[in-house]
Amino acid sequence: MRVISRIDEVHEFLDEVRAQKKTIGLVPTMGFLHKGHIALIERSIKENDITMVTIFVNPLQFAEGEDLSSYPRDLHNDKEQCDAAGVDLLFSPSHEEMYSQQVLTSIQIKDLTNNMEGESRPTHFSGVATVVAKLFNIVGLCNAYFGEKDWQQLQIITKMAHDLSFRVRVFGCPTVRHSDGLALSSRNAYLTPKERKSATVLSRSLQKASETVQSGERSTSVIMAQIIEEISTEPLVSLDYIEIVEGRSLKSINKIKEGSRILLAANVGEARLIDNVDPYVGIQ
Ligand code: PAF
Repeated sequence: MRVISRIDEVHEFLDEVRAQKKTIGLVPTMGFLHKGHIALIERSIKENDITMVTIFVNPLQFAEGEDLSSYPRDLHNDKEQCDAAGVDLLFSPSHEEMYSQQVLTSIQIKDLTNNMEGESRPTHFSGVATVVAKLFNIVGLCNAYFGEKDWQQLQIITKMAHDLSFRVRVFGCPTVRHSDGLALSSRNAYLTPKERKSATVLSRSLQKASETVQSGERSTSVIMAQIIEEISTEPLVSLDYIEIVEGRSLKSINKIKEGSRILLAANVGEARLIDNVDPYVGIQ
């Protein structure tokens, strides 16, 4: 595995790859890799000749007071995991390499960023879109893989890639979970053992809501009330939002139908956790 920290070296490496008519799979991450990231990497390896992982904790997507400085990092372990998984190229640039000048350009995406994470973290998605656009430009023609756990992010990146005609096909991959249902997240590292146990209420409430939908309930207010009640049984978990939306446009709906998505965010101790489900499928 090649480890590269400079953008011009990435260009050089990928120019050669393209000269050999090989396809490129891209897995952008902020590091502290877990099995969710490895699932993205494995899918990329299966579908492409070359797989490139990026590790960069992007300051643009953290607001003041958020966990940028404490965000978990372990580059040594990340390198070992990428190597073992069969990654060809690991790009881990410094802050100076990515933002060598003051950044005056940013990507704004309308509508899809108005609610949920966009409302709770108003500058977040502009930061995500800007860095992902930068990575798409650095890499060029490729297939890019993102987790469905960040459902709203996935819709935003998909739309941005289309609107700006990036030569990138964006793929969403199913959320990877612990056996008790908790979605894998680098931020789970913040949880104490007690909080970790309490946090399982998130996926449990989504699963119970899915079962209610599958037995015929369609009213979003009934389903949201059920989830709120379930989560309120865990005093360590403080719900930020619960929304039921049309899965692609992310518009709120009154009646659940095929393509709807239930999304929530909660604070559990120091950790802000998000999760979502297709209620017709349930937690898998
Ligand atoms: O999902 C993440 O880890 C980040 O938001 C991403 C897409 C790598 C951009 O920094």
